[in-house]
Amino acid sequence: MIGNWLDIGPVDQITPGNARTLPVMGGEEIAIFRTLGGEFHALVNKCPHKHGPLSQGIVHGGVVTCPLHNWNISLKTGEALGEDKGCVPVIPLKVDAGRIFLLRSAVMGQMAA
Ligand code: FES
Repeated sequence: MIGNWLDIGPVDQITPGNARTLPVMGGEEIAIFRTLGGEFHALVNKCPHKHGPLSQGIVHGGVVTCPLHNWNISLKTGEALGEDKGCVPVIPLKVDAGRIFLLRSAVMGQMAA
């Protein structure tokens, strides 16, 4: 049902390998990533290490490297990879007819945080 999904605009607002952020009123910012392979992922914009802004990290494959201390975070699971431990919430996302949608309840969940 379309009402469960929040339309946040066209896919071409994010160029491959980049991210944009979406502020959530009273809650955590969300980072939406587009990989070089053309996949889209959304995570809370806060590294599980020391809250670095993941949206400013380098995207490679399905991973973003945090700009602060270079932890690698999976865009799919939000988990830190390798030796590092930690996880950031993933916001379910879908692409439909050239537009990006986020799961409304997951966005609302961030509001309460
Ligand atoms: S805050 Fe992201 S690696 Fe330290």
